[in-house]
Amino acid sequence: MADESRKWVLMVTAQTPTNIAVIKYWGKRDEKLILPVNDSISVTLDPAHLCTTTTVSVSPTFDQDRMWLNGEEISISGGRFQSCLREIRSRATDVDDKEKGIKITKKDWENLHVHISSYNNFPTAAGLASSAAGFACLVFALGKLMNVKEDYSQLSAIARQGSGSACRSLYGGFVKWIMGKDEKGTDSLAVQVADEKHWDELVIVIAVVSSRQKETSSTTGMRDTVETSLLLQHRAKEIVPKRILKMEEAIKNRDFASFAQLTCTDSNQFHADLCFRIISLVEKWNKAEGTPQVAYTFDAGPNAVLIARNRKTAALLVQKLLFCFPPNSDADLNSFVLGDKSILKDAG
Ligand code: DP6
Repeated sequence: MADESRKWVLMVTAQTPTNIAVIKYWGKRDEKLILPVNDSISVTLDPAHLCTTTTVSVSPTFDQDRMWLNGEEISISGGRFQSCLREIRSRATDVDDKEKGIKITKKDWENLHVHISSYNNFPTAAGLASSAAGFACLVFALGKLMNVKEDYSQLSAIARQGSGSACRSLYGGFVKWIMGKDEKGTDSLAVQVADEKHWDELVIVIAVVSSRQKETSSTTGMRDTVETSLLLQHRAKEIVPKRILKMEEAIKNRDFASFAQLTCTDSNQFHADLCFRIISLVEKWNKAEGTPQVAYTFDAGPNAVLIARNRKTAALLVQKLLFCFPPNSDADLNSFVLGDKSILKDAG
């Protein structure tokens, strides 16, 4: 390295907004590489509001990679952080900062460590896609620091390995995450459908109902659904592909009626996720008992009709439902109806 004093620090700061899916990503076909079971489309928010700001720095005096989130040090030994770091490092190129007199070669990057400091200006993990903004920003900032030459789509495939929805935050405007076919995930990446100026009449208002940490992460919720739900396969194979085409059309034509209808329908189906999780709970329970304790059936709507074998089982069922879907969490159930009696949840 040119600088023998080892006293230098090179720094990059980036800011990335979060994104809100209008056709949702729900379910992975590969957990490690984070490959989805369907394409998804999102709107990237204005960076002035919900965003992550990340500073990455490198210095020969750093003896390990470290990260701070909202001022507190967090572990980055997990697979997702490590995948992003590894993928970016492997693409690092020479840096020649003449102003500071710093020269780093491609080879040097293998032995240099980074410090990462990240801030969210909105509640972390409260269902506002903090991981999306977080990993997109991390990958983008590291890419700049290490002089990675890849384009945004290429970078999105790396951010995807941090958190699926993160790949869509590399672009502004309307963004499609193409699920891809390659089992190594090279073609599972984000592309811009329309830029932020295309439909600038639209305004997104977010009503934050709860800023508490989610009880169940998207990752766990998805895993349960994939393991247990035939409906999910139907959604991924039959429903979403058609919806994606219609949504792209609606965006292109700034057709709000169609856009709204597709967005709401997809959300309603997605929130039927609660149904999948109830099904999963019942199936796991029945399996553990050896004989069925509870049967479920759904009419057209998302309400689960659960038939317990007797009163004792019904009491246990309500207990389990309350445990898995705690009141006032993001997954609470509005009410339980037992026979002809409604037991409303405790709103407190
Ligand atoms: C409901 O991207 O947070 O927001 O890939 O496991 O990190 P992981 O999940 P994540 O899931 C987001 C799910 C969603 C829908 C969406 O953004 O498309």
